[in-house]
Amino acid sequence: MNNTIYKTMGQQFGRRSWAEPWKIKMVEPITMTTHEERQKALKEAGYNTFLLYSKDVYIDLLTDSGTSAMSDRQWAGMMLGDEAYAGSRNFYHLEEAVKKYYGYHYMVPTHQGRGAEHILSKALIKPGYYVPGNMYFTTTRLHQELAGGTFVDVIIDEAHDPANLHPFKGNVDLDKLEALIKRIGTNNIPYVSLAGTVNMAGGQPVSMANVKALRTLCDRYDIPVYLDATRMVENAFFIQEREEGYANKPIIDILKEFWSYTDTA
Ligand SMILES: Cc1ncc(COP(=O)(O)O)c(C=O)c1O
Repeated sequence: MNNTIYKTMGQQFGRRSWAEPWKIKMVEPITMTTHEERQKALKEAGYNTFLLYSKDVYIDLLTDSGTSAMSDRQWAGMMLGDEAYAGSRNFYHLEEAVKKYYGYHYMVPTHQGRGAEHILSKALIKPGYYVPGNMYFTTTRLHQELAGGTFVDVIIDEAHDPANLHPFKGNVDLDKLEALIKRIGTNNIPYVSLAGTVNMAGGQPVSMANVKALRTLCDRYDIPVYLDATRMVENAFFIQEREEGYANKPIIDILKEFWSYTDTA
């Protein structure tokens, strides 16, 4: 049996180069700007990337959500889609896949992450509540605050130091979290908002040991752990690379163990 753990798509498909095993069939022309034009656009936007016009942006790193190319199978899937008003077979197909790969029992499809954040925040946060998180993502925090909550940063201090080489700078500082719980009381904390590969810290991962310890602490106080699963595959890759005992575990098994310490995503 071949026990090699393949790390890239190229390796999985037996290719020597890093090249991805697909071709992109559609192109969208974009404007080529000069250095001077970009400087002018940035100045006019007050150096706020949210106020830039997209026509002035050549490489857009603000989000990849819904902006990237779809595969031929995704496009074909749209044509095969069951548009029934209720009971659509595609819903059951998606639900089955979520149960199989994530292990969560219930699922609500949303069009994008920010839509999910809105529903979750409206449903669970009441004015006066506190929502601890390992730093925050812009729209996540916004929806928490619009619902009347207060975000509290409980990430480890190392995350705030860009030069620090800690391997898991996305980790939750359990002492900070417990201090908050003791100060505020469990009734005012609807859940812990945990994110893999913390965006604001530059994509820093959370270790398995940390999420496991977080689960134990939250069980003690009966507080759910909700995961922002954006880039969790990358988080699992960092666990495989950096955490003892995971070098030979496939990414899917690492992911399944990680989800098992969370209540939902
Ligand atoms: C960590 C994180 N959470 C939430 C979101 C929001 O997701 P979406 O762009 O699908 O609304 C993003 C988007 O980039 C993200 O990086």
